[in-house]
Amino acid sequence: MTDLQPPVEPAVANTATRTPADAPEHPIHKVLSFVRRSARLDTRLQRAWDNYADTYLLDIAAGNARLDVREDFRLTKDFITSTWGNNNPLIVEIGTGQGENVVAAAAAHPDTNFLALEVYDPGVAHTLLLAGKQQLTNIRIAQVNAAELFKVTEPGAIAEVWTFFPDPWPKKKHHKRRIVQPELAGNIHSALVSGGVWRIATDIEDYALHVHEVMDQLAGWKNIGTITASLPLEHVGKGNADLAADMPHADFPESERFAGRVLTNFEKKGLDAGRVIHDFTYRAVALQ
Ligand SMILES: C[S@@+](CC[C@H](N)C(=O)[O-])C[C@H]1O[C@@H](n2cnc3c(N)ncnc32)[C@H](O)[C@@H]1O
Repeated sequence: MTDLQPPVEPAVANTATRTPADAPEHPIHKVLSFVRRSARLDTRLQRAWDNYADTYLLDIAAGNARLDVREDFRLTKDFITSTWGNNNPLIVEIGTGQGENVVAAAAAHPDTNFLALEVYDPGVAHTLLLAGKQQLTNIRIAQVNAAELFKVTEPGAIAEVWTFFPDPWPKKKHHKRRIVQPELAGNIHSALVSGGVWRIATDIEDYALHVHEVMDQLAGWKNIGTITASLPLEHVGKGNADLAADMPHADFPESERFAGRVLTNFEKKGLDAGRVIHDFTYRAVALQ
């Protein structure tokens, strides 16, 4: 790379020489929110990986198909300070896809640190490309299962967490694979600074109901939404989603569209299909 100088040497070795798609490992008993797909990178993305992984990609993955975090790794405040080279607040986006949102946010807020979490090789490579082209210094990317990283994060290390358009897992038998779950919420609660927020958005009505069910009554969280959304009170699955319209509905507090989010393809697809976007803001409050 030409001018870009990372603020300090990263505290762990980086991964330019590693290729995407590590070998699968068996058995897999954990319920995962993703399917590990190894995809070949096209020439442009492979070049981005080769050029920018050294600068941006944190070498914290265990190297198995579940994309666990390396056993000896902890996301501590010291690691954050030495990796980003400052004490600025850290925002972590879970499931950054192609990286459009997290990179735009990092470019717009040079005094905030950003960590992109994504499991899919082409998404990671594309995020590397976008960050590298702009020579950003306040963003890092980790190719790990986000749920595992929050288990090893030091309390109070993160200012905000964002999860925009999580994989919908529409079949009823797959709802347990949805990433918004009480255990993750508990780990995010501990990782956040006091008063920190978890922002979530989805274009899937049944997922919106799922978020309310998981989060609205969960100890330590306050839904600070100021608008009202009407949602069916029962779940539907793939194939019978149209039944939802005739079900009894109730009102739930939600948020205005988060102004800090750029329109990604996933949000655009939802809008083009006539779906309503549901935005949520949950504030971490003291556990009773
Ligand atoms: C539907 S896409 C949305 C991407 C992006 N947020 C957007 O709006 O364009 C969801 C993304 O979450 C990623 N993902 C799913 N489970 C994950 C996990 N446990 N850790 C990190 N990323 C995950 C998927 O690989 C996928 O790229």
